[in-house]
Amino acid sequence: MHITGIMAADPRGIVGKGHDLPWHYPDETAHFRNTVKGHIIIMGRCSFESAPIDLFEECDTIVFTRDKTFDPHTPRTTVVHSIEAFNAILPLKTNQHVFMIGGADLARIFLKEGLINDFLLTTIHKEYEGDVVLDLDLFTHWPFIVVEKTANYTIRRYTKPYTGTE
Ligand SMILES: NC(=O)c1ccc[n+]([C@@H]2O[C@H](COP(=O)([O-])OP(=O)(O)OC[C@H]3O[C@@H](n4cnc5c(N)ncnc54)[C@H](OP(=O)(O)O)[C@@H]3O)[C@@H](O)[C@H]2O)c1
Repeated sequence: MHITGIMAADPRGIVGKGHDLPWHYPDETAHFRNTVKGHIIIMGRCSFESAPIDLFEECDTIVFTRDKTFDPHTPRTTVVHSIEAFNAILPLKTNQHVFMIGGADLARIFLKEGLINDFLLTTIHKEYEGDVVLDLDLFTHWPFIVVEKTANYTIRRYTKPYTGTE
């Protein structure tokens, strides 16, 4: 099973402000939408509640919450309550590519559990105010290549370093 992370952060790791993105870069949003379209997306409940509804028409979705009563009210969406439950359902769907799309809380858990194979991280060049932070130190030992550079942002593909244990 191959899981790719895909998120955007400012130089300090800011990824969110309230329930939204701190910035508006239509071409970066298009990069995200075109990359995940038709595939499986995984996200935390907070990101699920702030994402545009048409995203869930384009992708099969897995949403993480510890709330056993949570109802996503969207088709093609599966709710899981733990990493163990997630590991149990995913092998059924592996003919599609799998993307972990955030937010910072779910990304931290997936990175610490070693579940992410590679990560498309957009670095927004400008600093923004925000209250949701992705810990960029989690990528310290990950080799990367630059995929795209524009005036406003740089997209890098980070690859999980080989530890010899997997
Ligand atoms: N820049 C980007 O690329 C990007 C991408 C996505 C989101 N965002 C932004 O990030 C913010 C939201 O991110 P966030 O970090 O606050 O939250 P989040 O990661 O989207 O969701 C966190 C929630 O996921 C559930 N969860 C986490 N770990 C779990 C586990 N092991 N088992 C079961 N459920 C688990 C919990 O839901 P319950 O509380 O329901 O139990 C938790 O409160 C928003 O501002 C959004 O706009 C930015």
